[in-house]
Amino acid sequence: MKHFLNLIDLTGDELGALLAEAARLKDAQARRIPTHSLAGRVVGLVFEKPSLRTRVSFESGVAQLGGTSLYLPGNEVGLGWRESLADFARTTSNYIDALVLRVYQHGTLDGLAKWSSIPIINGLSDWSHPCQGLADLLTVRELFGAEKGRTVAFVGDGNNVARSLAVGCGKLGVKFVLACPPGYGFDDTFKAQYRERVSPEFPREVADPFAAVRDADVIYTDVWTSMGQEAEREERLRRFEGFQVNAKLLAAAPAHAKVLHCLPAHRGEEITDDVMDGPACAAFQQAGNRLHAQKAVLEWLLK
Ligand code: CP
Ligand code: NVA
Repeated sequence: MKHFLNLIDLTGDELGALLAEAARLKDAQARRIPTHSLAGRVVGLVFEKPSLRTRVSFESGVAQLGGTSLYLPGNEVGLGWRESLADFARTTSNYIDALVLRVYQHGTLDGLAKWSSIPIINGLSDWSHPCQGLADLLTVRELFGAEKGRTVAFVGDGNNVARSLAVGCGKLGVKFVLACPPGYGFDDTFKAQYRERVSPEFPREVADPFAAVRDADVIYTDVWTSMGQEAEREERLRRFEGFQVNAKLLAAAPAHAKVLHCLPAHRGEEITDDVMDGPACAAFQQAGNRLHAQKAVLEWLLK
């Protein structure tokens, strides 16, 4: 039984194959060549937190592949409180072919995966966002022809999105550097996991965003306050001052550098309007790639 919980579980070759299939599916979709690899299959989508991109791209992707999706709001299914994770997993395994979940605690996914006889797909947890990471790598591949040897400078919080991207980069030979205020870098658990399962050499962490972007092909940012951290917002706004992706920071990067953001953006906080709406920004191409990357994941798990 395969799941898609963290990019760290996949080999570099598997990630490369998913990216190639995503590109093929994107091209087929653009040419309106039908692909019905999920005909007759049903995918459940459980969301404990809000979403635009993840929900819509999964629903569309399943439909484009000839399958059906079911939206199951987290407050109705009550994972772990209305019934146990084991009972939920063993019940839904009878009805549907795969489950996509957006959860507060990553442990919820591990708990379900233990009992489920259908694939579990992580649609974002507090620990990781592998669907995002895959779409990010697809975007880097499209922007530069190949991702290997490129440099991604992540300016912001060492969060779920940063972890997944760092792992994906490490597995595919992309250099990754994190620029963050003290105390907001990668945690020790992640560092140990990375050294054991990705590379003994851990990505560089710096406190100066200007130093981070100097050799960057991609400047990446995400919100400073993730879903579930709302109580820390004021403190985070103070601590991340100076880490905004704005015209001044962009000017310190090579002229060809592109800007990515997983979205939603908190414009005026981690990124300015002029950068978001400017020529270097590829965040909407990146958002579009969620669809194609996830279709490749669905095929990989279900075909
Ligand atoms: N990037 C992303 O996962 O967007 P949503 O939160 O809108 O799904
Ligand atoms: N780090 C953000 C990503 C949103 C797609 C969050 O978890 O809220």
